[in-house]
Amino acid sequence: MDAADINGDLTEVLYTEKQIQERVREIAVQIDEDYRGKEPLLVGVLNGAVMVMADLYRALTIHAQMDCMAVSSYGSGTQSSGVVRILKDLSIDVHGRHVLVVEDIVDTGLTLTYLLENLASRNPASLKLAAMFRKPEANKVHIDMAYVGFDIPNRFVVGYGLDFNGRYRNLVDVGVLNPSIYA
Ligand code: PRP
Repeated sequence: MDAADINGDLTEVLYTEKQIQERVREIAVQIDEDYRGKEPLLVGVLNGAVMVMADLYRALTIHAQMDCMAVSSYGSGTQSSGVVRILKDLSIDVHGRHVLVVEDIVDTGLTLTYLLENLASRNPASLKLAAMFRKPEANKVHIDMAYVGFDIPNRFVVGYGLDFNGRYRNLVDVGVLNPSIYA
């Protein structure tokens, strides 16, 4: 679906499908260069990362593999607490692999802080992060984000993997959700 299909649900489109796809291709070019000859393992964090994983992985011209993890963060309401439980672990052993974690968004950074620590303990050859969107809070935690699509404002955004109650992940654009939807 695109923004026109959900007329009224968004107050503003932040990034169109075209802009997102262009940015994904730019990041893929960088990853191609940085990982040439290394056959990286892309690790997607379900569910939000499905869209960027599918697009980024296909945009690469080098050999690469992919796997996914599912995590759940314990928190009160919409706030992430940083306590993360692994619901689905990787199928591929990351020991000695060049791991690139792929995320849709880094907000408080708590999920990623846990995840990167967990993956680092498995002794990968290298460990980096690619996130399509980054919110301002993310800058407060020390996470080295090798590849970032867009820095976005601290607003309720949906689309391209980002959901509200499971909806809008399949929106090809990214926009600000109308408060009337979640009020
Ligand atoms: C989102 C997103 C990240 C995390 C970022 O996942 O995909 O994993 O939140 O938030 P943080 O930086 O504040 O920790 P969510 O838990 O909403 O699950 P989802 O991917 O299934 O939407």
